[in-house]
Amino acid sequence: MWLNIKSFEEYNQIYNQSETDRLKFWEHEAGTFYWRKSWDNVHSGGFEKGDIKWFEGGKLNITENALDRHLNTIGNKTAFIFEPNHPDSFRRTITYRQLYDDVCRFSNVLQEKGIQKGDRVCIYMAMTPELIISALACARIGAVHSIVFAGFSAQSLAERIQDCDAKMLITNDGLRRGDKHVPLKDISDEALKSCPTVKNVIVCQRTNRDIDWVEGRDEWWHMLIRNASKVHKAVEMDAEDPLFILYTSGSTGKPKGVLHTCGGYMVYTSYTFRNVFQVSEEDVYWCTADAGWITGHSYIIYGPLFNGATGVIFEGVPNYPDAGRFWEVVEKYRITHFYTAPTAIRALMSYDIKYVQKYDLSSLKVLGTVGEPINEEAWHWYNDHIGGGRCPIVDTWWQTETGGIMISPLAGITPTKPGFATLPLPGIFPVLMDENGKEIQGNGVSGNLCLKYPWPGIARTVWGDHERYLKTYMTSYKGYYFTGDGCRRDPEGYYRITGRVDDVLNVSGHRLGTAEIENAINEHPNIVESAVVGYPHDIKGQGIYAFMICENDPNDPVAFKKEIHNLVTKIIGPIAKPDLIQIAPGLPKTRSGKIMRRILRKVAAKEAEDMGDVSTLLDPAVVEEIKGGKAY
Ligand code: WTA
Repeated sequence: MWLNIKSFEEYNQIYNQSETDRLKFWEHEAGTFYWRKSWDNVHSGGFEKGDIKWFEGGKLNITENALDRHLNTIGNKTAFIFEPNHPDSFRRTITYRQLYDDVCRFSNVLQEKGIQKGDRVCIYMAMTPELIISALACARIGAVHSIVFAGFSAQSLAERIQDCDAKMLITNDGLRRGDKHVPLKDISDEALKSCPTVKNVIVCQRTNRDIDWVEGRDEWWHMLIRNASKVHKAVEMDAEDPLFILYTSGSTGKPKGVLHTCGGYMVYTSYTFRNVFQVSEEDVYWCTADAGWITGHSYIIYGPLFNGATGVIFEGVPNYPDAGRFWEVVEKYRITHFYTAPTAIRALMSYDIKYVQKYDLSSLKVLGTVGEPINEEAWHWYNDHIGGGRCPIVDTWWQTETGGIMISPLAGITPTKPGFATLPLPGIFPVLMDENGKEIQGNGVSGNLCLKYPWPGIARTVWGDHERYLKTYMTSYKGYYFTGDGCRRDPEGYYRITGRVDDVLNVSGHRLGTAEIENAINEHPNIVESAVVGYPHDIKGQGIYAFMICENDPNDPVAFKKEIHNLVTKIIGPIAKPDLIQIAPGLPKTRSGKIMRRILRKVAAKEAEDMGDVSTLLDPAVVEEIKGGKAY
C-alpha cells in the first residue's frame, strides 16, 4: 500500500521509522510502482564521492507509471484541464486515456525522426498540453528532455542546446503571455544558427503568425501526429538512466544542467505530492508554475500523474486580463488545491480586494507556496482572503537539485506557522552547520542548511561536469549536501528558510546567478566592470541592483539603463533585467581584488550607515562615493 500519512502522530511515528531504517522506508515506497524488473540494490554511493544511486538494476518506464497503469481504473478521468492565456480562447480537458494516446503517437513520431534512448531533446514551448505530451513522449522512448522556459532569449536557448548537444528542438510558432507575444520560432531560428547538432525541429501551431521555414529541418506537429500510430511500447529503462536535464543558475559561471534519473525521481515526486498535498480522488489540483521550471516538472507533470490526479495546465499570467484571473479559474473549475509562488501573492495583494471577492473560492481546501520565503503579511493575506481561514497552507521548501519537496507541512496534518516551512518529510534529514563545518545541535539556532543522507530524488550530476556537481554541493561540508540556503530552527524545531547565502538571487521566485547577469552587462562596450547584488523588493522578494563602472559616464542614465535592459534581455531574457542601476567610480575590493558584496548589498538595501569593518578594503574612500551615488 502507498504510504499516505493521515495524522500528526502518524507523521512523527513514520519519521522516526524512516530514521531507524532509511533503506527499508524508501524500498517500501518504491514497491508501490510498476517495475518490469525489481532492483538489485536499494541504494549505494554517497555525498563524499557524489556517486549516489537508487534502485539500481530496477527496470521500468516512468510513463507506464504515469499513464498505462491508470488506463483500466481511471482512463476516463480528466488528467488535465487546459486553461489558455485568454479566458475566451479554446479550452479543453484531456482524459488519462487521451493523454496516453497522444503520448504514444508522439513517441512514434520521435522514434521515426531517429530519436533514440539517451538522445537529448530540447523543448521550448508555451504552457500547453503539447509541452507535456512532448516531455512524456521523450520519457517513454528513453530520450532525455531538456525543457527551456519560453521566456529565455535565443542566446540562452542556444547555450542550453549546445551544452547537452540536443538532437531535436520542439517549439511553437509563438506564444501569448498576457498581452505580450513571444515569437518562439523566430527565437529558435536565431538560436539554431549556432546549434549544428539539431537536425529536426517540430513546430506546434499556437499563434498562426507567419514564420520562416527551413525545408528538411522543420515540420509541423499536427502533420506528424496525424499519421502516427497510437500503439507504442515503452522503452525499458534502468532506474539510474537519465530522465531529464534542467538548467538552473548557480553562484558562478553559466547555468548548470541538473540531471535527474528515472527511478528515484519517480518515487520521490510521487511520495511528496501525495503526502504534502493530500489530494483525493475528486479533487482538482492547480499548480500555477510553468513547466520550464522544476516545480512544473515535479508538480504539474510527474507527481500528479503518478497519483492519478486531475491538474490544470495554465498558459496565462495572474494579472491578465485583470488581477482576478487566478480566482476566476478557481471558481470555474472548482479548484481544491492551489499551489503558487509568494511573488504572485504579493503582486495580487496590491490590487483592490474586489478582484478576490468577486469569485466563489469555497471549493478550495489546500493552499501551497514555493520558490522563496513567504513574508508573514503575504501568508496572512493568502490564508484569510484566499483560504477563508479554513485552508492549511503548505510552505514547501525544495530546489531544482532536490527533485521534490523536502521541508513542508503535510496539508491538514502538520500545524503551520506563518513563514515556516515547518518540518522535514519522513526520509529527509536536514541539519544546520556552523562556520566551522560542525552540525549545530538543539533548537533556537541558525546556520547553513545541509542534508545528512541522500534521498531518491537528488540530482545525480551536472550534465557533462561532474566536478562542478561535487564542488557546488558536496565540498563545502564534507559528507553532506549543501543547499546554499541559510535557515533558522526555532525553539519548537520548526524550520524557517532565510534565503540564499551564496551569490544566487531569487527574483520573483526565479533563480539567477549574479555572475551570469554581470557577464551580460559586461558585454556593453561602455562597461568596464560591474557587480550585481540583490536588495529587498516588495513584490519580487529580491530586486536586481547593478553597480557599474563605465568607460565614459553616460549623460543620460535613464537611456543607458534602457540599453542595459535590452542587452540583458537579449543575452539572458527579460527576467534578468536590473531593477536599479548605479554608475560608480569604482567598486569596493579587498587587497586581493575580490569585490566585497557585503558592502554593495548594504548600499542597495539602504542600510549603508551600518557598514561594518571596511579596513581590509584596497580603497576605503570608494565606499563613501558609492553611498553618495544615485540609482536609476
Ligand atoms: C528558494 C524551486 C524559502 C531557496 C523549487 C532554494 C524557498 C531555491 C522555498 C531553489 C520556500 C524554494 N521558502 N525559500 N518554501 N522554496 N526556496 O531551484 O532559496 O528554482 O534554494 O527550486 O528557492 O530554487 P529552485
